[in-house]
Amino acid sequence: MRGARLTRGDQPPEIVVPPPGPESRRLSAELARVEAPGISTLGPRDEPAIVWREALGANVLDVDGNRYVDLTSGFGVALVGHRPPEILEAVARQAGELLHGLGDVAAHPARVALARRLAALAPVDRPRIHFAVSGADAVEVALKAALAATGRAGLLAFDPGYHGLTLGALAAASRAEFRAPFAAALRPGVVRLPFGAEPARIAAALADGAIGAALVEPVVGREGVLPPPPGWLAALAAACRASGTLLIADEVLTGFGRTGAHFVVEAEGVRPDLLCCGKALGGGLPIAAAIGSAELFEPFRRAGEALHTGTFVAHPLACAAALATLDLIARERLVERARALGERLAAELAPAVARVDGASLRGRGALWGIALAAPAPARRLAARLARRGVLVLAGGAAGDVVQLAPPLTIADAPLTAALDAVAAELDRLESDADAC
Ligand SMILES: Cc1ncc(COP(=O)(O)O)c(C=O)c1O
Repeated sequence: MRGARLTRGDQPPEIVVPPPGPESRRLSAELARVEAPGISTLGPRDEPAIVWREALGANVLDVDGNRYVDLTSGFGVALVGHRPPEILEAVARQAGELLHGLGDVAAHPARVALARRLAALAPVDRPRIHFAVSGADAVEVALKAALAATGRAGLLAFDPGYHGLTLGALAAASRAEFRAPFAAALRPGVVRLPFGAEPARIAAALADGAIGAALVEPVVGREGVLPPPPGWLAALAAACRASGTLLIADEVLTGFGRTGAHFVVEAEGVRPDLLCCGKALGGGLPIAAAIGSAELFEPFRRAGEALHTGTFVAHPLACAAALATLDLIARERLVERARALGERLAAELAPAVARVDGASLRGRGALWGIALAAPAPARRLAARLARRGVLVLAGGAAGDVVQLAPPLTIADAPLTAALDAVAAELDRLESDADAC
């Protein structure tokens, strides 16, 4: 095994062997033998994939020594960059004191401090923090709280939308392929409307009082990067209020500055009843939370054991990392930086996107999607960018969107190199089409 090779996180890409290189191929073959398909990172026929070894700042190094610029932020987690020293120091300090606590039985100081910080930050009235281990777990908490508080089993969800793949959150997923194998076990009573549906349609769906909560991604992320139509979230909130329906904002991807506001709902002038967050919060360690108005969690108050918990809930290392992450976001003014990044991304990519037939660019802050005419060019663009040392995600509800979500701390050199590569590969896509 070679030693660490990333000494700084602000470098342009450097490809030394076409990825996936020999070591990635060797490890991929081993993965194919031992891991379950689907989650193993390999293709559907166990095609080999790049294996990451290190990440720092905006750079990722694979096991073959290729250096990439990460425009995925590791699924949006590395909002403050990979492994910033402040987070490493906070985690090391915490590890020197308490590595693991006792979930809902014994708290620790970092957890208390983090709950206080989140309560101060959240655009929720009378906020109470319910920690969770993953984004999907936070959504489960919010769904349970809404159900317990309203007694109404119906749920309004939007298409496209993604909230995680545990059984409760899965019921709200717009993608039928995710739900189909498990349909028999999913909650009934989910009503799905198009994201951005006319307020009158929303009001009609809520009119009979069967729906306890509306669950929405304020900016659709993984399913294709869709900002809401102007005023739409406020109209949704008003329809919810009028019918006594709780509004759950899923800001697992968008929270903590990704879109140029601490939370999208804040920028839209909306105060949800429950807000889910995760991903970036832990700065690379797994932690999430459902933040809700105090009275909604009252049904959880009881003498017996917790109604919703987990062994690793509010993990000490993750709480320490989250506190350091929130400090970094404030100190480095990263919410403002997301806005500036967004302006640059849009200005530099718009001309190249406009040259590709049927393509469009959409996003907000530092979350952008390049929508192409079909899934094949989106996959091709992502694969070609990886070969140039730029990591992006191809996907979305129809598989035709390439998502760009750089760390907010990305330096000029890697960003310039990455944007140049994206523009060049977009031009190449167009010349592929001309050649057909
Ligand atoms: C909006 C949204 N909600 C929930 C989740 C689920 O989070 P996790 O993968 O941490 O369970 C995701 C993950 O991509 C997400 O983007």
